[in-house]
Amino acid sequence: MSLKRTRQGILFGGDYNPDQWSPEVWQEDVRLFKEAGINSVTLGVFAWSRLEPEPGRYDFSWMDELMGLLHDNGISVILATPTAAPPAWLCRLYPDVLPVDARGARYGYGSRRHYCPNSPNYRRHAREITTRLAERYGRHPAVSYWHVDNEYGGPACYCDRCVEAFRTWLRQRYGTLERLNEAWYAAFWSQRYQKWEEIDAPRLTPAYHNPGQTLDWRRFMSDSFLQCYLEQRQILRELSPDVPVTTNFMAWFNGLDYHAWAPHLDIVSWDSYPPTGADPAETAARHDLMRGLKGGRMPFLLMEQSPSQVNWMEYNRPQRPGEMRLRSWQAVAHGADAVCFFQLRQSQGGAEKFHAAVIGHDGSSRSRVFREVAQVGTELGRMGGLVAGSEYRAEVAILFSWPNWWTIEQEPRISQGLHYIREVMRYYRALWRHHFEVDVVSPEAELFRYRMVVAPLMRIVTPSLQKRLEEYVRAGGALLATFHSGLTDENDRVHLGGYPGLLRGLCGVWVEEFDVLPPGQLTTVSVREPYAMLAGEYKAELWCDVIHPEGARVLATFGADYYAGMPALTEHLVGKGRVIYVGTALEPKGVYDLVGWLASVQGVRPVLGAPEGVEVVRRWHPAGPDGQQPSQAEPVLFLLNHNPSPASVLLERDYVDLLTGEPCRGELALPSREVRVLRPI
Ligand code: GLA
Ligand code: ZN
Repeated sequence: MSLKRTRQGILFGGDYNPDQWSPEVWQEDVRLFKEAGINSVTLGVFAWSRLEPEPGRYDFSWMDELMGLLHDNGISVILATPTAAPPAWLCRLYPDVLPVDARGARYGYGSRRHYCPNSPNYRRHAREITTRLAERYGRHPAVSYWHVDNEYGGPACYCDRCVEAFRTWLRQRYGTLERLNEAWYAAFWSQRYQKWEEIDAPRLTPAYHNPGQTLDWRRFMSDSFLQCYLEQRQILRELSPDVPVTTNFMAWFNGLDYHAWAPHLDIVSWDSYPPTGADPAETAARHDLMRGLKGGRMPFLLMEQSPSQVNWMEYNRPQRPGEMRLRSWQAVAHGADAVCFFQLRQSQGGAEKFHAAVIGHDGSSRSRVFREVAQVGTELGRMGGLVAGSEYRAEVAILFSWPNWWTIEQEPRISQGLHYIREVMRYYRALWRHHFEVDVVSPEAELFRYRMVVAPLMRIVTPSLQKRLEEYVRAGGALLATFHSGLTDENDRVHLGGYPGLLRGLCGVWVEEFDVLPPGQLTTVSVREPYAMLAGEYKAELWCDVIHPEGARVLATFGADYYAGMPALTEHLVGKGRVIYVGTALEPKGVYDLVGWLASVQGVRPVLGAPEGVEVVRRWHPAGPDGQQPSQAEPVLFLLNHNPSPASVLLERDYVDLLTGEPCRGELALPSREVRVLRPI
């Protein structure tokens, strides 16, 4: 299979719904697209009923015309399959297409994403429309990517057919009921199953669900949607072998296990919707998570962002002047090879009519939003070619896993304050503030290339993960593990023999029990002897492990309660490496100092010394922008000032600013929300 190489430059454009407009408007749109530097249009995302107005009657005339129009104007097309919005006729003819909720009520028609992933009628018609599209446009020169469906993942369907499919899925996973009963710990509340037909979805129940059942149900639902995707992908592969296939993800979306999906995407793409004023580290983390789905280095596509306000938050505020531009460059800095918007022209009616668009209801290029978009378009057009296709290289990894998320937040939880992503962000944010480059990756990822691996709340640890972590540490890596780790297996059954379960030997500690701090209650953690920046006393919240060292040395102790004086932070030297165990949730300064100290021990250095709120990241060309050998290749350096005030950065060498063409050296001033893209000279 030969996939088209990344096109020269960064794709810039977004979702376009010409099916809502007349051909005269299309002409005007193309004129405005060119004015804004738009070189890519995402077509057909919800166009099923326009493409197939009646069962088996297809109308491609309008799309033919548009494809031609766009291509003639040098605009490429990300072509979507329209299967996220099954037409009314399909739901009328086959009511089983509509999904069923956990109470057994069937959803109605009139919105989108209204399909059961296991409905054969849905699947058949989705395959059919995909086949028609692929036959017609699969080799069209305008098509750059296939965009399958839209934001897969929901709602989960609890219909009888899904339950049947669940049983089949379980049979494949466990083979016998005996093994299933064991995996689900069905002895509890006498849930033992005698027949496969007895197994149900975790529907509405009077008390807590079985955690093993829920975990498997989530895996199964993720797989069910994946099957929908794979059916389409196979058709596209056959009929359109040169066009890479993707579907748009949503970063920390709970409904799918993106790690199970990622191998089946040729390139990862995702939709980013930070509200105005959002913490830039939050957005950075999501980029690093999405890029991390393919191991961390390979570029991804920013498939959607809003050019300004959205319409689905509680208070939909516009992005402030300069914010969208800064976010666009932030995406590119973190590895995006496309910067796309939802949406190019604002719809006149429908649920999203007040969602911002590049071309607003005024229909002109005079709006602030249009002008800001056009500025980004000009800048990307000027230098995107130097960046597209280049890699991100991180020395630090954060481990993240969806099943882990599912178990940690499954009710009942030990503390309502326990939020997986919040704890992941506690570490990510500290690393970000240090200007370290980070990959957020699966525990299955290759670890040896990282100098440091941070694994917050790694509750599920299998024997194979235990072994891999140990090999990584023995070879010289540093693992930072936290409380609530190593406790359970992939079915959420506890590893007996003392906490932290399978990580007990590696961490060199026994956690006898744990205390949970209600909101607002803090404890203190005192460092025994200073380790560079890690010194003195820190506040901590949420959780306190009662720790007995078993080979680890104590770095810091708790200052309060019945475990006062007992370890809070430990270090265990194993082989050539080390394991840090953190038995509590340290305040931001504590995490900052801890990871800063560990990084210095491991030889991880910040990209550049820069003030707080100035993001510094690099992208590397595998063979250098001018085709040099990798060893000689110099990265492109991105400086992003997220602060509301100006900042300055001291450059250690000479650069050229790719946006202005000016040389830079020494002290470089960065106005608020300003971006610099620098190449060493
Ligand atoms: C999602 C969808 C789009 C649109 C936007 C609105 O990302 O993919 O179709 O609804 O949200 O923000
Ligand atoms: Zn169903």
